[in-house]
Amino acid sequence: MKRSFLVALTFLAAAGFAGAQMTKPSTDVLGAHLNYGRGCTACHSPHSGASGNGNAKSADPASGVTSLWGEDVSSLYGKTITTGGGKFVEVLPASMSATTPDVAGMLTCLGCHDGNYAPRAMMKNKVYEPLPATYGISNSIPTLMGNNGTSTASYVNEHPMGLSAKISCGGSSNWDCAQSNGVISMKGANSSRFVTNYGFFVQPGNYNNSAVVVCTTCHDPHVMNVVSVTNSSTSGLPAGTYSTMFFLRAPYNPNDTNPLSNQTAQFCRQCHADKSNEMNGSSARTVF
Ligand code: HEC
Ligand code: HEC
Ligand code: HEC
Ligand code: HEC
Repeated sequence: MKRSFLVALTFLAAAGFAGAQMTKPSTDVLGAHLNYGRGCTACHSPHSGASGNGNAKSADPASGVTSLWGEDVSSLYGKTITTGGGKFVEVLPASMSATTPDVAGMLTCLGCHDGNYAPRAMMKNKVYEPLPATYGISNSIPTLMGNNGTSTASYVNEHPMGLSAKISCGGSSNWDCAQSNGVISMKGANSSRFVTNYGFFVQPGNYNNSAVVVCTTCHDPHVMNVVSVTNSSTSGLPAGTYSTMFFLRAPYNPNDTNPLSNQTAQFCRQCHADKSNEMNGSSARTVF
């Protein structure tokens, strides 16, 4: 098993010395979300919400209320988007001051990544990272979900998300985890083995005491290409920094030079337990 962990480098990384010894890209961790130079402020406005960015298209009293949000998302308020092949119906919040997890976890992202109802602020609709040869070459991969080259405004081909996309525990297809007040603990025999072998990095939203899938469940908009694993995190992987792509919260490197690497499949298995090694009698762990 070939693992690219960097056990002893954690303190060096903290001190900023480790760059030369790492194989991961040395770019700023904010990556594509440097927003072509505008930086943090493209998303968070220190003053006056979307108006502070010169971007307010409506007089929205809730602009900037959540996370000092600096993009105008008012054109998304109350819109229905249907994901997961039509089975998951999500009515987007009616205001930035609503208290559901799809405010900070979805409205924010779609403020730029919708591209239909909401403006494609700064977007070029192309992924920013160079993609490995294992991807196709017929089209450039889009970054706008509401305008992605299929039909405009349709989300049916998106992974289930929203307040109805619930993550469950138990039964034949879910982890033997426990869920209490919307918080999942991976403490069963199989789920704890999976956490040792990979981890549970995802951060479900909490809606009416159920764990639900929103954009920020899988993505951390602040760190594009690395995942930092510490001894205290919910992962049994050796501490260190691991490569990822697309702001994913867990090791996910389709650019791994080992064709037998399973790390990208492990990402999906965090929730899709019935497709895991642990639940199918295999002793395979995470292969980098
Ligand atoms: C592409 C948009 C985007 C950019 C750029 C961005 N953020 Fe955020 N940030 C978010 C979103 C979305 C949330 C809310 C996440 C949640 O609560 O689920 C957030 C939350 C936060 C929070 C509160 C929660 C936390 O994680 O501490 C802070 C503080 C923050 N951001 C600071 C920053 C700083 C500093 C930068 C620049 C280095 C930055 N952000 C760049 C989207 C962005
Ligand atoms: C202020 C606008 C803005 C917001 C808000 C925003 N993004 Fe982005 N995002 C961008 C830009 C710009 C790019 C670069 C790609 C492009 O120009 O098409 C990008 C690229 C990405 C990429 C692809 C990165 C790559 O590998 O090329 C992902 C994934 C992504 N964003 C996720 C998110 C998520 C999740 C959220 C919400 C938490 C979010 N973004 C919010 C502007 C934004
Ligand atoms: C269940 C996990 C999950 C959720 C929820 C999710 N994403 Fe992603 N996203 C991924 C994965 C995995 C990739 C990388 C796909 C690949 O390897 O090509 C990705 C890729 C992307 C990309 C790069 C372009 C592409 O289509 O591959 C963008 C942009 C993006 N996500 C934005 C979002 C936004 C915005 C949301 C919420 C509206 C969201 N994602 C919700 C897992 C998720
Ligand atoms: C954060 C948890 C989570 C992660 C991570 C996750 N999924 Fe899902 N996935 C779900 C939930 C919840 C559903 C809907 C409930 C169900 O299983 O019926 C779902 C449903 C699906 C479906 C069925 C969609 C339909 O139309 O019925 C597919 C296919 C799928 N996921 C693929 C993936 C892939 C591929 C990945 C990795 C790139 C992934 N998932 C990562 C939680 C997750």
